[in-house]
Order: sequence, then structure tokens, then C-alpha cells
Amino acid sequence: MNTAQFIPKILSEKIAKASFTWQTPSNIALVKYWGKSNPQIPKNASISFTLNNCHTITRIDFSRKERTTEVAFDLFFEGKEKEEFKPKIADFFKRVQEYCPYIFDYKMTINSENSFPHSSGIASSASGLSAIAMCLMSLEQELNSDLTQEFVNKKASFLARLGSGSASRSIEGPLVVWGNHPEIEGSSDLFGIQFPYKVHSVFENYQDAILLVDKGEKQVSSTIGHNLMHNHPYAENRFQQANENLSKMSKILQEGNLKDFISLVESEALTLHAMMLTSNPYFILMKPNTLEIINKIWEFRASKNSNICFTLDAGANVHVLYPANEKETVNEFIENELANYCQKKQYIYDSVGFGAKKHNTK
Ligand code: DP6
Repeated sequence: MNTAQFIPKILSEKIAKASFTWQTPSNIALVKYWGKSNPQIPKNASISFTLNNCHTITRIDFSRKERTTEVAFDLFFEGKEKEEFKPKIADFFKRVQEYCPYIFDYKMTINSENSFPHSSGIASSASGLSAIAMCLMSLEQELNSDLTQEFVNKKASFLARLGSGSASRSIEGPLVVWGNHPEIEGSSDLFGIQFPYKVHSVFENYQDAILLVDKGEKQVSSTIGHNLMHNHPYAENRFQQANENLSKMSKILQEGNLKDFISLVESEALTLHAMMLTSNPYFILMKPNTLEIINKIWEFRASKNSNICFTLDAGANVHVLYPANEKETVNEFIENELANYCQKKQYIYDSVGFGAKKHNTK
């Protein structure tokens, strides 16, 4: 695999101080990534909708210093210094230092905030790490003005992946594929790419309402969950199935068959959780209200002839997906019925988005 392309050769400029601010979104997988090998190589290809409203905004102030062998950074989350988040970020810098050797020349001050409530159970690693990756790439662009935007996005996704696999899918939008797949041109295990084929108009402005069923700390982290796919009795079949499902999803996205979309998306969500139920040790991340909501969605779909469906990530929250033309009726259903199964009746309306956005740094 060609990782050498991401090691900078010439860094012509010397810059004493620079600050960059990036807003990067969360994403929700339609075909799931669950299982990986080192270094952050997925066992199967996945595809996700990039979200619009759930995002992280991160500013990094770089100030040049004597080069040392340690990466120096301070970390503030929502205005407060966060020692407990530092090990994950320090780990990320270790994994990317070969590709971003300039980080040893700077003291970095990272200021981050999320648009969604803290510890809402919404994965913040995808948006959080992709934002840091974009800030690093903005610095690299200043140090080497020859970089194209295409390369910047590709390398940002490559770096983000080293922090958290799903973060590789948070640089672009509205649909991103990560993982090498024979039918998706340009796809790679190293970085996410925008879905390269024309998508049917029914998926434009697709809606995702995130129902916050359980905001508590997950009992089993994604990292542990991925690891349990090693020696899992169904792992090989699952990886093969996911790749086949991506072929099916590619066709569905181009042709716009919503019935097929619904059954594939829901099957992917339940298969992900089935892998958790059949791991050794086994675990359950769904809560009773997750199942209540799924049943309500199925009843609503049948009785109203709706195209509503659900998906899940590694937690109890439910993502409700529906086409933009059903927004009024589905939002009413969410407010009147599904909200009752959410913690403190909390949910977030989101829709597909287009990826990372640069802010003017004040
Ligand atoms: C269930 O990207 O959080 O959301 O690479 O260990 O950081 P790490 O895992 P992570 O796993 C996400 C798993 C998932 C499915 C998906 O987003 O594809």
C-alpha cells in the first residue's frame, strides 16, 4: 500500500505562528465497519452519509519552537482544559508523526467544541479527529504551497483514519466509501473517497433524526468491540457479506429503490449488533427503548406507507432515516411518539451534509 505518498518531502516555508479553524461533521454508516487490523485497516469496505448539523469545531494555534522528540500540545474542550481527552490525542499524534514530522516544530493549542450535547452518546471521535486532521493539513499547506485540494482532502482522511476509522469518512460528503472494494473506483483501505457515481435524486437532502435513547457512557468501547471480531465465529462471513452489501448499496444509491434501501440499511444495523451479541465475551448496547422505537418505526412504515427506516451505531441511540419529502409527517411522528422513548425527550434533527468547512480564524 502506498503510504509513502503521505510523507512530505520538501517543506519549503518556515512559519512562526499560524492558526486554523475547521468544522467537520459526524457521519452515519449505511454499510458498517466493524473489525480491523493494524494499522487501522478495515476488514471490509463501508459507506456512510455525512451529516450536517452534528459537528465539531476545532481551532489549533501553532507556534514554532525548538524541535524536540515529544509532541507538545494543550487541549481545551468547550473552553476548559481536558486532561482526560489528552491520551487519545497524544496517541493520534504518535500515529501520524511519520506523516506530519512538522508537529515536532510547534507547540499546539487545541480548542474544540461539539454542536451536539456532550456525552450524548453520539460518536465524537469521527468529527473530532477529522477536524484535527484538517487543521494539520492547513499547516502543511502553508509549509508546502504546492499541495492540491484533492491531495489535502485525501491525506486529511488518511490521517483521520489513523485516529479513528470512521473519521476517515468525515472529510467529504454526502456519501463516502472507506475500504478497498472492487466495484468502487478509487476506493482504498487508507482513506475515504466520495462515492464516485451519480446518486439518485431521492437521496438528496436525506433526513437523519438522532433519537437519544441513552446518553450514558458505553459499557464496551468501539475499540474493544472491533477487537472482539478477531476469533469471532461469524467474522469472515460478515466481512464478505458487508462487501456484497456495499455492491448492492451502490446500485440502490444510483437507481433510487427505497424499499431495497430500507431493508439493506436495517439489516446492516441489526447485523452489527448481532456481531456484538455473538462475540466472546458477548455484550448488548441496545436498550429496551431502542427496541420500542424500532417496533414503532415498523408499525408507522406499514400503516402510513412511509419510507422511514432506522440504523444504529455502536450504542443505544437510533438514527431515523427518511426522504426529505416525508419530513413533515415523520417529524410529527417523532415529536408525538418516538420522543417519549428518548432520555429527557431529546433528539436531534440532521440531514446529509457536504463535509469539512474552514472557518475564518478570529
Ligand atoms: C459501529 O470508527 O469508532 O460506528 O477505528 O476503533 O475508532 P475506531 O472505531 P470507530 O468504529 C465505528 C463503528 C461503527 C460503524 C461505522 O461507523 O462504520
